[in-house]
Amino acid sequence: MTDKTLFEPYTLGSLTLANRIVMAPLTRNRAGAGLVPSEHAATYYSQRASAGLLITEATQVSAQAQGYQDTPGLYTQAQIEGWRKVTDAVHAKGGRIFVQLWHVGRISHIDLQPNGDAPVAPSAIRAQTKTFVNNGFADVSEPRALTLDELPGIVDDFRQAAANAIAAGFDGVEVHGANGYLLEQFIKDGANLRTDAYGGSIENRARLLLEVTAAIAKEIGADRTGVRISPVSPANGISCSDPQPQYDYIVDQLSALGIVYLHVVEGATGGPRDVALFDFDALRSRFQNTYLANNGYDLELANAHLKAGKADLFAFGRAFISTPDLVERLENGAPLNALDPTTLYGGGAKGYIDYPTLADSSAQ
Ligand SMILES: Cc1cc2nc3c(=O)[nH]c(=O)nc-3n(C[C@H](O)[C@H](O)[C@H](O)COP(=O)(O)O)c2cc1C
Repeated sequence: MTDKTLFEPYTLGSLTLANRIVMAPLTRNRAGAGLVPSEHAATYYSQRASAGLLITEATQVSAQAQGYQDTPGLYTQAQIEGWRKVTDAVHAKGGRIFVQLWHVGRISHIDLQPNGDAPVAPSAIRAQTKTFVNNGFADVSEPRALTLDELPGIVDDFRQAAANAIAAGFDGVEVHGANGYLLEQFIKDGANLRTDAYGGSIENRARLLLEVTAAIAKEIGADRTGVRISPVSPANGISCSDPQPQYDYIVDQLSALGIVYLHVVEGATGGPRDVALFDFDALRSRFQNTYLANNGYDLELANAHLKAGKADLFAFGRAFISTPDLVERLENGAPLNALDPTTLYGGGAKGYIDYPTLADSSAQ
């Protein structure tokens, strides 16, 4: 038991965070022309800058990496300049911000792919899920299996996007290794039937995530590199027959790389925490650096897990969408705003930058 509280500063690598509360990555589908962050993005993120750390919405590392309409990228000069406005606005308020880098793999649609090509995946297995495209939800398209000689290019896309992130003023990057997207498609055997060095054994299935992470850590520094995983989440129609040994191995390897944090979605993403038997404490004890916990936390659960030493930092997702001043409200025991589910994906300012702070509400 410790006396540490969520509201005290925390040292993350070379950064000092104002508190232990983190804004989870949240896709909002509001990027503008050229998949540049929307004109409102700087306002949206800076409204939430009292979090100890902000993690941006998932941001694609290439055109092929896109799977939903109007998600931002980080592979063109215009995108770098668009993100620079966001990082400047957050830093002006004393906040810290990492960008979440993703490749969606098979969770995409031909209408979003360059030349209308098939989305790519470890194996040609279509996911039983939908994506948001053409202003509505549609089944994902049939993917094609990546060839062995395409994989170095994907690693390099992540490396280059990480370099671009630093050019855009980010404090670091989070590798999206969770929620059924490309890197997790390689990890989990429900989506990976390969027989080469990237399929089959636990070591082989972990290879792409570890290569991507090592390349990014080499490019921008391990102390600016985090990784998100979701060992038992069925998000986006994925399954894994052996999550405990698979993720014990991955976490040992990530720890050896010296990355600054491990971000773990505990349970089904946005759903039950106890979706499957899994020992998250084992991951916590295997990882030497900061353990960032997510999924279904409220103040009480976060405090209990902090006191028990189960995690160092806690990411809140849905609560940060509706409540820009979440840190202040948790600290003062104030109620949170209700979430409007109709404005999550796409649209403009409504449901994005117009949720009131406590101060706004009391001024009315
Ligand atoms: C609207 C919405 C968008 C999301 N987008 C992402 C994303 O881009 N990347 C990601 O890793 N998780 C994403 N998630 C999952 C959240 O980061 C988080 O894991 C989930 O909401 C559970 O945390 P919570 O219980 O605090 O909301 C999203 C969730 C929601 C509700």
